[in-house]
Amino acid sequence: MSDTSPQPKGPIGRFLAAPPDSVGKTIFIAVTLCLVASMIVSATSVALRPLQEQNKLKDKQANVLQVAGLYEDGMDVLEGFSVFEPRVVELETGTFTDQFDAATFDDRAAASDPELSVALANDPAGIGRKTKFATVYLLRNEDGSLDKVILPIHGYGLWSTLYGFIALEENGNDIFGLQFYAHGETPGLGAEVDNPRWKSLWSGKKLADDAGDLQITVAKTAPPAGADFHVDALAGATLTSVGVDNLVRFWMGEAGFAPFLENLKSGDI
Ligand SMILES: Cc1cc2nc3c(=O)[nH]c(=O)nc-3n(C[C@H](O)[C@H](O)[C@H](O)COP(=O)(O)O)c2cc1C
Repeated sequence: MSDTSPQPKGPIGRFLAAPPDSVGKTIFIAVTLCLVASMIVSATSVALRPLQEQNKLKDKQANVLQVAGLYEDGMDVLEGFSVFEPRVVELETGTFTDQFDAATFDDRAAASDPELSVALANDPAGIGRKTKFATVYLLRNEDGSLDKVILPIHGYGLWSTLYGFIALEENGNDIFGLQFYAHGETPGLGAEVDNPRWKSLWSGKKLADDAGDLQITVAKTAPPAGADFHVDALAGATLTSVGVDNLVRFWMGEAGFAPFLENLKSGDI
């Protein structure tokens, strides 16, 4: 007996009439599933972006508190952070500028903005471009005098750019602490920059000697200037240590915060 049922008309009719395990229907289901899944992932990513930004900011603030020795487990970071006075510094003149809102100025975005940064011909920190403006955090005593200043620093290690802060005493020369909040160095090797024991080596070291020459050095042996200017290199991670040496010397030098630190020392800040 021949099949007398009417043949479906058009591509949609033929598609609907095809068996569920036909090639066409299998591909259709797979593509539909992919599209729906990618839409859910994209929507979730967009919806979570403000939360991610908020967490990033909170993490940065926690790191500023840590490098200043004020962080305590379980503390309200936002409230704790309110003790700092953020100010934007114009690096070339070393003076504060009110051109930007210090509470929201994005140093990392500025570093890649052609208007707000310059390409570096001499680039020991391996950063390519340098922001013209940077946010610093002032910590004041009760009488309003300066207690500490926290400066942002960044530069290339072995595998990654390390982002962190250095905390200086009010004289702009004695180091209180150093801390990185983002990097991609190897756990157990370069990532030992996060080891509290290594970080504690920075406390009490000095940037420059009495003549004002920058002497701070991260190396396996002390520099001629002496132990006051020496932070021991990380064992088994010489290349990351060289990166940290370069970036700290870059940011504390003339191309970085030296003009600002000069103003701080002469009481102009
Ligand atoms: C998989 C792997 C990851 C490494 N990660 C780092 C690192 O993050 N930082 C670093 O300085 N050296 C790292 N090294 C080691 C360097 O290649 C190099 O041996 C080391 O910096 C030399 O340090 P030392 O003179 O103290 O031994 C890594 C090596 C390997 C094989």
